[in-house]
Amino acid sequence: MTSGKKYCLVLLFLRILFTPSSHGNQVVLLDTTTVLGELGWKTYPINGWDAITEMDEHNRPIHTFQVCNVMEPNQNNWLRSNWIFRQAAQKVYVELRFTLRDCNSIPWVSGTCKETFNLFYHETDESHGGAFKPAQYTKIDTIAADESFTQMDLGDRILKLNTEVREVGPVSRKGFYLAFQDIGACIALVSVRVYYKKCPFTLRNLASFPDTVPRVDSSSLVEVRGACVDHAEERDTPKLYCGADGDWLVPLGKCVCSMGYEEIDGACAACKPGFYKAFAGNIKCSKCPPHSYSYGEGAILCHCEKGFYRAEKDPPTMACTRPPSPPRNVLFHLNDTCLLLEWSPPSDTGGRRDLTYNVLCKRCGPQPGQCQLCGEELRFVPRPQGLTNSTVTVMDFSARANYTFEIESLNGVSEMSHFPRPFTAITVSTDQGGSAPAGAFMVGMLKKDWASQNSIALSWLEPDLPSLNVVDYEIKYYEKEHEELSYSSTRTKAPSVIITGLKPSTCYVFSLRTRTSAGHSAYSPKYEYETTDDTSDMASDQGQVLVIVTAAVGGFTLLIILTLFFLITGRCQWYIKSKMSSEDKRRTNYQNGHALPYPGVKTYVDPDTYEDPAQAVHEFAKEIDPTRIRIERVIGAGEFGEVCSGRLRTPGKRETAVAIKTLKGGYVERQRRDFLREASIMGQFDHPNIIRLEGVVTKSRPVMIVVEYMENGSLDSFLRNHDGHFTVIQLVGMLRGIASGMKYLSDMGYVHRDLAARNILVNSNLVCKVSDFGLSRVLEDDPEAAYTTTGGKIPIRWTAPEAISYRKFSSASDAWSYGIVMWEVMSYGERPYWEMSNQDVILSIEEGYRLPAPMGCPVALHQLMLHCWQKERSQRPKFIDMVSFLDKLIRNPSSLLALVEDMQCLPDSPGEVVDYPMFISIGDWLDSIKMSQYKNSFVAAGFSTLDSVAQMTIEDVRRIGVVLIGHQRRIVSSIQTLRLQLLHEQEKGFHV
Ligand code: ADE
Repeated sequence: MTSGKKYCLVLLFLRILFTPSSHGNQVVLLDTTTVLGELGWKTYPINGWDAITEMDEHNRPIHTFQVCNVMEPNQNNWLRSNWIFRQAAQKVYVELRFTLRDCNSIPWVSGTCKETFNLFYHETDESHGGAFKPAQYTKIDTIAADESFTQMDLGDRILKLNTEVREVGPVSRKGFYLAFQDIGACIALVSVRVYYKKCPFTLRNLASFPDTVPRVDSSSLVEVRGACVDHAEERDTPKLYCGADGDWLVPLGKCVCSMGYEEIDGACAACKPGFYKAFAGNIKCSKCPPHSYSYGEGAILCHCEKGFYRAEKDPPTMACTRPPSPPRNVLFHLNDTCLLLEWSPPSDTGGRRDLTYNVLCKRCGPQPGQCQLCGEELRFVPRPQGLTNSTVTVMDFSARANYTFEIESLNGVSEMSHFPRPFTAITVSTDQGGSAPAGAFMVGMLKKDWASQNSIALSWLEPDLPSLNVVDYEIKYYEKEHEELSYSSTRTKAPSVIITGLKPSTCYVFSLRTRTSAGHSAYSPKYEYETTDDTSDMASDQGQVLVIVTAAVGGFTLLIILTLFFLITGRCQWYIKSKMSSEDKRRTNYQNGHALPYPGVKTYVDPDTYEDPAQAVHEFAKEIDPTRIRIERVIGAGEFGEVCSGRLRTPGKRETAVAIKTLKGGYVERQRRDFLREASIMGQFDHPNIIRLEGVVTKSRPVMIVVEYMENGSLDSFLRNHDGHFTVIQLVGMLRGIASGMKYLSDMGYVHRDLAARNILVNSNLVCKVSDFGLSRVLEDDPEAAYTTTGGKIPIRWTAPEAISYRKFSSASDAWSYGIVMWEVMSYGERPYWEMSNQDVILSIEEGYRLPAPMGCPVALHQLMLHCWQKERSQRPKFIDMVSFLDKLIRNPSSLLALVEDMQCLPDSPGEVVDYPMFISIGDWLDSIKMSQYKNSFVAAGFSTLDSVAQMTIEDVRRIGVVLIGHQRRIVSSIQTLRLQLLHEQEKGFHV
């Protein structure tokens, strides 16, 4: 057997190792591993290279060529491929796979055995058939093996397959041959693959780029111009460059979807019916604005519904509008020289703001219908047409004449309507026999007679009007805080009135005018009176209120300390306030939902007060060069786009870990503004317990907000994932941090409105920081926020009752939410009020129910929670007090030893107002805490009365088969409450 034949074994083995390579950007001209029939390659001389074709397991041939004439000198064995068609190639690549035997491993061959072979090519325009002239061939390279094998390798069946690639080019004829020259080596050529590279067809930025063959010169690129996909148009010529390796580089320019089309998965799809796109660009189709429609697909505009119009200058994004209704309540005030006409705006402005009025004057004779247009002698100040205010003064009228004034309301689409213009007419007779000037029949001082929680009684002196009859008085009033945005009014014939239906503890503004036969007087000056608060009324309700406050001996002591503490701090505040000027006092009051800070303290500026929101962003946030940001991972999804983690490089500083909120493409201006609003707010804060803003990227896409990175993510899920892992002191430490951040915010005059554990972030040192700023947007974003009956979106379980009922948000409502966060922390992320519905939560709070202490919760902390959940908001603790209270607990950990579950008896005197509901049966009780599934377990274990349940310990609860920790916790917490309730009932029994 020749040494060549020994290779057969080797080749079988190679077959297993061999996997053909393929690449998307290669066009293969020849691959011997895929040729099914005979290869038909030529060998010269005939006894040089040996063609060996094996079959693989799929019965496909493996073509190999072997030569191993290592003992004989002067070898010159040629193997020539078939003619290979060049196609579009300018440079071709030849990939060879082969094994080569180490000459040192073959005895007695020194001098004759070689370890290389030569690769040649020859370009021709056609096949030469069998003719072969080695002299025509050009050498490409001498090929040596990186790895040669020995006899031992053969024994071990470890074979080293070499892969070598050589470039050939430029090639220009129609095709070429390859030739392999052996000069005395022991080789097996296992495969030959010939290919050229191309940049494959691709779609980028809505443009298509065809297959492109790179230049031979690897340093120069081919510039390729893209063609816009269907329904797209060019925005800066789309271009890509094809690199020598078949990669597309440097995308420039782009196409954008045309009007009526939007981008979906790299193509432009027609807008659906009901949607439109009025401009070409990378924006989505928009829903048709109100009172407009589009029937077909691909609408570029929505048509107005019948009776609605678009003015010439109205943008297509604007709702269709209609002419206004006529003006209302037209009145006149007449004196000797002037006639003042006054009216209220129309009830329907047609959806537009460009409201104006025209006044048409007719002078009428004694008989109806004898009217003519007034002459030019009448003067209107400021003018009769195009009035923007709802008054006009008429002068130079004739005495003893009847005038009819028709007052029309108009807006930008009045011209387009074919209906007659709506107007309201008033007739004025100037024959008043000397009418009183308007101010003359004004009433005197408006006096408050008494006020209650919901009513205020007012009276005034009647005006002295001998010649005019008083028809009635009109009293206009509104909540001082809401300014004059909406007001109510009432009429009375008597010089007194009782206004009912008012809110407790609320300041109202009143003014009055008189109506006489000559018309209305002007309004009196404004008077401010306040309703009383409900604590005075509460005194009478006390009988109904179930007061339960309990503590064990230690707990009770704490309660006294706590009460004393708040009393003292309250006193101090009173003392400080009494020393302040009246202006200072005003500033410490709660106004517009913000506690106004003390002078000298930096205050929060609402970005919405900036005419240009971009100005607010640049005032409060640093612009970051995006090349300094490295995005590493996506860690979440926000309403506006992904949230990622990454690194921020700052010159001269260490790289810092950051979280990056991105604004996804295709946003509208309002979304961009809302997104950046959070940065404008966050950028104003500088506190260790408030998430720190690093800066924003607004000058390039994507728009980003960069904040410090918080390794442990949001507090609620962090606690849920580490149930029971922390000491009470650690938990109190977290709460202290949050309270400190909230104190800072309230000092700045900022009301958070969505304080909840999900909006607190935790870093690797367990430091908690308040995050998620942006007021209304925060609530839009919060999955917990639900719509209330008044239309607001509010996270019910975290929100104080006054904020739910009438949107009275303040630092005091934040204090309520803080109490809920305390509860979430102490229960390791339990859901407040468990699975109760939002409606049930509102009702139970209204009825006085408060969350019981979580299992293992120190009395002092539950007491502080209850303090935060006082119905009367002014009684809730201030954040400054909470911080120092928590500091004291941390400094004196023994104060945290008394747990709520240790409490066995009621205190001698009640402290906080805690109104727990009364349960009648085990079923009711378990239903109320959504644990009814355990009813049979309780009864089966002999706990069939509430009294027996009240004696149960945590072990008892486990023993009857409650295995889930969360359920055990919920049941045990509720047993504490139940125990208190029963004790209280017993107490009441003694008194009866
Ligand atoms: N998720 C949202 N903001 C984050 C932050 N700053 N750090 C970590 N995770 C976050």
